[in-house]
Amino acid sequence: MIREDIDRIVSEIEALKCKTQKEVEEARVRFLGKKGEITALFDEFRTVDKAIKAEFGRPLNELKQKALSRIEELKENVVADTSANGPKQDLSMPGEPVALGSRHPVSIVRQEIVDIFRKFGYDVAEGPEIEDDYHVFEALNFPPNHPARDMQDTFFVSAGHLNPLLLRTHTSSVQVRSMESMKLPIRVICPGRVFRNEAISARAHCIFHQVEGLYIDENVTFADLKQAILLFAREMFGPETQIRMRPSYFPFTEPSAEVDVSCNICHGKGCNICKGTGWLEILGCGMVDPNVLEASGIDSKKYSGFAFGMGLERIAMLKWQVNDLRHYFENDMRFLQEFATAPEV
Ligand code: DAH
Repeated sequence: MIREDIDRIVSEIEALKCKTQKEVEEARVRFLGKKGEITALFDEFRTVDKAIKAEFGRPLNELKQKALSRIEELKENVVADTSANGPKQDLSMPGEPVALGSRHPVSIVRQEIVDIFRKFGYDVAEGPEIEDDYHVFEALNFPPNHPARDMQDTFFVSAGHLNPLLLRTHTSSVQVRSMESMKLPIRVICPGRVFRNEAISARAHCIFHQVEGLYIDENVTFADLKQAILLFAREMFGPETQIRMRPSYFPFTEPSAEVDVSCNICHGKGCNICKGTGWLEILGCGMVDPNVLEASGIDSKKYSGFAFGMGLERIAMLKWQVNDLRHYFENDMRFLQEFATAPEV
């Protein structure tokens, strides 16, 4: 009886075919599991008498070995099979689209401003964010105890000596570096990040972006400044845009002005963006103070120039009517995705 069973099981094992790991496992359980057929033969073998034991001991052990190695073999075949024929791939199918990010609104505005001034013949200059007192204040004609140097407004990196290191509070420092290093005439714009020790609110942040402009040549006048700003405003806010200049004060320009553009939302009628005035303030500007030219080794009798500076977040807020500056810094995808289709001018 054992003999017949052994022969039958041997031929069954040899004929075994499995397509999946699950089928291999089922076969293992069927032959070698606790209640498996081969295990049952071993149980039976224990009860038979010595003569039969002598006859069937070896074939029974060989059967078990055969079953074990066949199961191993089947396992390996299944693994090789699934990796070779795995889920069918159609290599001619178009790839999965990769979701592209969109440009940040501040980058969009910066690029627009750079492109406009490039058309006017301006180069782009950059300078360090960690600057010294000389380039941020001293060379720009700030008096020694000007409040902007105060700990209240400026993040100092190292203090306690004559020319402390600090995070630049404006990109006007790059006009100094440009005057020091470039050949005259100079026409540059300087986009960059600036830092001020301000409480964060809807209208102020401790990190923001500015673009500084500088034009120095012989016979540059306030009329040239006015024309440059008017052309810029019309490129930026539309051909109907008007500008107005209000007298102001900056240590590095004389005379100085603040520039408003006509509100491009209500076209001068008055709305809540322009607070009913019909005008929006966009930048500060003026004729470069002779002291500033001389500090950088430029002959102020021969040369004159104008400079201007604007905040990028402010321009972006006006352009897209965003009422809270903090949106630009919080990386909220819902906000940033709004600009995914913003026209790139
Ligand atoms: N640096 C000024 C600021 O941070 C902006 C500015 C005003 C720049 C007048 C200029 C300028 O070049 O002429 O507020």
